[in-house]
Amino acid sequence: MDEPVIVQPKPYHVAVEAGNRYLWCSCGLSQTQPFCDQSHVGTTFRPVLYAATETRSVLFCGCKHTREQPFCDGSHNNLVDEYVTDDRPREALLAQTTLAPFDAAGKALLDGGCYVRRHDQLQWTARGGITIAPVISARDGAEFIAQSAVKLESGDSDVFSVTDAEVVLFCLTGEGTVTISGREFPLRPRGGALIRKGEAFRIAGDSGSEPLHLLMTVCPGDASLEIIDSMSEGFDTRYAERTAIYDESSRKVMADRFYQVLIGEGTGSDEVSQFIGEVPQSKAAPHRHLYEEAIVILSGYGTLWTETLRAPVRAGDLIFLPARQEHSLECESPEGMMLAGHFYPAGEPNINY
Ligand code: FES
Repeated sequence: MDEPVIVQPKPYHVAVEAGNRYLWCSCGLSQTQPFCDQSHVGTTFRPVLYAATETRSVLFCGCKHTREQPFCDGSHNNLVDEYVTDDRPREALLAQTTLAPFDAAGKALLDGGCYVRRHDQLQWTARGGITIAPVISARDGAEFIAQSAVKLESGDSDVFSVTDAEVVLFCLTGEGTVTISGREFPLRPRGGALIRKGEAFRIAGDSGSEPLHLLMTVCPGDASLEIIDSMSEGFDTRYAERTAIYDESSRKVMADRFYQVLIGEGTGSDEVSQFIGEVPQSKAAPHRHLYEEAIVILSGYGTLWTETLRAPVRAGDLIFLPARQEHSLECESPEGMMLAGHFYPAGEPNINY
């Protein structure tokens, strides 16, 4: 027996307790998945011990092909040609769910605090040379992240600082520069930038470019954006590269989908990951993530489904997904859908259960 048995092409969600020890089955033969029942005896496989040091939820690999035993690392997605989709008849899904209405502020609330917000109904306020509109905050039920849309018509913004929080920028349109504690980095459409804790930043639009239009994600989300008098020093030189841009050659394959992590480990992100994803015309099987997530639809249209509700989504819409909320994003546009996501805690976007 050289290859493990694929028990299921997705992980097991298990609540582990601090001080307890867990023997994860690596061969796939156990009848007590995801744990060992000694069925590996006589094979070359051995169980993997996990000693929990804290009480938390973990995702034990169910496909047995992870490279990060005993936990899921997303490898299950590439054991199949197609991402696992929801093949239930549409009529049944429509009968099971109700169309969530958009309120006067352009927000459609779905199950579990999940929502879709229309970008063209955001409430803008001028501050520090920018206009800013809240997208996700603690008032919406977010525990870890806060997200705002930001516009800069021209010139330079004031200098901002968010003490004890990471700030991640995503450029929707326009071109410009973000200066992070004295160092300049380009802002380009479908590109991201990271400001580490304790650093200051200022944004500036390029002359001749259309106005800068960004998403700004702050984590922890209860930190406040302060305007300070001058650019502070203190750039964290351990992470010299702070920006990344969407680049087809850097995409990772996930069955029939693609994604690229823009802000993550490589840019020194401790809290938030930022990615771009490409989704073909399809409906993902309902699933959950351990992380709290914010998504912006960059192109295409479709439907966001939760257990009992659904809402249409289109380019520009902003989605909030609480951790562990069951959901399914359906792309209905024949040309596919592009989206960008931010989530806490930082990691890989291809892990769900
Ligand atoms: S279930 Fe095996 S890598 Fe995810």
